[in-house]
Amino acid sequence: MTSTLHPGLGEAARSFLSRTHQLLIDGRMVESDSGRRTDIVDPGTGAVIATAAEASATDVDRAVHAARRAFEGPWSKVTPAERTRMMLRFASLIEDHADELAELECINSGKPLPFCRNGDVVGIAEMLRYMAGWTTKMGGETPNVSMPGEWHAYTLREPVGVVGQIIPWNFPLNMAMWKIAPALATGCTIVMKPSEQTPLTALRLGELALDAGIPAGVLNIVTGFGNPVGAAIAAHPGIDKVAFTGSGETGRRIVQAASGNLKRVSLELGGKSPVIVFPDANLEAAAAGVCSSIFFHAGQICAAGSRLYVHERVFDEVLDGIAKRANAMKMGHGMDAGTQMGPVISRRQLDRVAGYIDQGQQEGATLFAGGQASGEHGYFVQPTVLTGVKPGMRVHDEEIFGPVLCAMSFNDEDLDSIAATANATTYGLAASIWTKDLGRAHKMARRLQAGIVNVNALSSPDATLPYGGYKQSGWGRERGYDAIKLYTEVKAVAINLNN
Ligand code: NAI
Ligand code: MG
Repeated sequence: MTSTLHPGLGEAARSFLSRTHQLLIDGRMVESDSGRRTDIVDPGTGAVIATAAEASATDVDRAVHAARRAFEGPWSKVTPAERTRMMLRFASLIEDHADELAELECINSGKPLPFCRNGDVVGIAEMLRYMAGWTTKMGGETPNVSMPGEWHAYTLREPVGVVGQIIPWNFPLNMAMWKIAPALATGCTIVMKPSEQTPLTALRLGELALDAGIPAGVLNIVTGFGNPVGAAIAAHPGIDKVAFTGSGETGRRIVQAASGNLKRVSLELGGKSPVIVFPDANLEAAAAGVCSSIFFHAGQICAAGSRLYVHERVFDEVLDGIAKRANAMKMGHGMDAGTQMGPVISRRQLDRVAGYIDQGQQEGATLFAGGQASGEHGYFVQPTVLTGVKPGMRVHDEEIFGPVLCAMSFNDEDLDSIAATANATTYGLAASIWTKDLGRAHKMARRLQAGIVNVNALSSPDATLPYGGYKQSGWGRERGYDAIKLYTEVKAVAINLNN
C-alpha cells in the first residue's frame, strides 16, 4: 500500500495511515459491529491510502451511552478552569503534530499542503484556545425582576448534554473543531461522525484529545456512511442536540429524524454567495479575491463567492483579470510544491461539477475560462468561468461546489435593486461587497440577506466571528459566542425571599 502514497509524506503521517483505523468509543479504539470497511482515497491520485471502519447503528448506540456516562460522570466533575487547561493542552498537542495533521488533511481532502498547514491546523488550534476562554466566562445573569415582593432571580447557562456532530469532507479538521471546541467548552459530550470520505484527521484529533487528558467518552468518533451512521445519530433519543454541516438535502433529512425527541438542531448548508463589484473598487484586489474564493480548494467551500456581479463599466477589466489568474493557476496534487488548486474530492463530485459546466452552456451560458475535467489520475476540474448566466439556469440557482464562477454584469446605481438581484436565491450564507465608498458598503451590508458580509474581502476566518446562514443556508451560528449559545440551555431560577 505504501507505494501508492505521495513521496512527500513524512514518517508520522505514513505511520498513522498504515494503522488499522477503528472507532473511538469510550476512550478506546474498537472494531465496528459490522466488521465492514470503506476505502479511503487520495483524490489527487485516485489511489486507496487507507481503510476505515464502517460503524453501525449499534456502534452509534454504544457511543451515545459512553457519551452519556461521561456527561453525567467524570466530565461533570471537571471544573471550568480545568476544562480550559485541557483544551489548551489539546491545542498545544495539535501544534506539536501540525505537520502530520496537515499532511493527512492534504492527502485525504486534496487541499494544497500550505493551506492545510497554515490555514486549517493553525486555525483549529486557535479555535480551541478561543473557545477554551469561554469556559470560565459563560455564566448566567441576574435579571432585575418586577414581581411583587422580594425576589432573587438568576439564570444559569448549562450544557445541552450529549451532542451528535455530523460533518462533511471539504474541511475535515476545521469542521470537526468548529463543533468540538464549543461542545467541550460548554461541558457537553460528543458523538461525531466525520465524512465517510475523510475520516482520518478526526480520528487523530480524538487520540490527541485523550492525550490532553480529556476523559474517555467525552469525544467519541464513529466513522461510516450517512446511512446508517449519520441517520442513527440524528434519530437517537439519547442525543440532545445534533449539529450538521453539509447539503440541504441531508439537512432536511436530519431535521425530520431529529423530530422524534425534538433534539436541538443546528445546520450549516452552504450557499450561492454573491460578490458585488462597484466601479470604484480596487479592481486588482477584487479579481484576486474572487479567484481565491471560488478556486481555492477547487470551489468546495460553503461560502465560496460563486455568483459574481460586476458593474458593466468595469466588467471586462475584472473578468480579464480573473481569466488571466484562472488560466495561470497551477493545478496538481496537494503535496506537490507550487500547487495552487488541488483536486475535487471524488469521481462523483467531478461528474457533478462537469455536468453543471455542460448544462450551463446548454442553457445559454458562455465558457469564458477553463471548462475541462479529467478523472484519469486524480479528480481535477479546471478553474472555470461562465458568463451570460441568468436566473433560472441551474448553474445560477444551485450550489455547484466546484471551481465554477458564474459572472454577470449590472448597470444599476440603485442599491435596493442590486440587493434584490443578489438576494434572489434560496440561500443566504455569505456575500462580498467591493467599493471604496463607506456609505455604500454599509448600506449594502444592511440590504443583503446573508449571515456573513465581507467588504473588500471574500473571507474573514476568525474564531470570534459568528458563521452561518440566512434562509436555506441553515439554522444557528458557529464560531464566536453564538457557538456557546448553540451548546447551552438557559435556566431561569427565581427565589421568593419572603416565604
Ligand atoms: P452530504 O450532506 O450528503 O454529506 C455531509 C455529511 O452528512 C457526511 O458526513 C455524510 O455521511 C452525512 N450524511 C449523509 N446522509 C445522511 C443522513 N441521511 N443522515 C445523517 N447524515 C448523513 O453531502 P455530499 O453528498 O457529500 O455532497 C453533496 C453536495 O452537498 C455537494 O456537492 C455540496 O453542494 C453540498 N455540500 C455542502 C457542504 C457545506 O460545507 N455546506 C459540505 C459538503 C457538501
Ligand atoms: Mg449526500
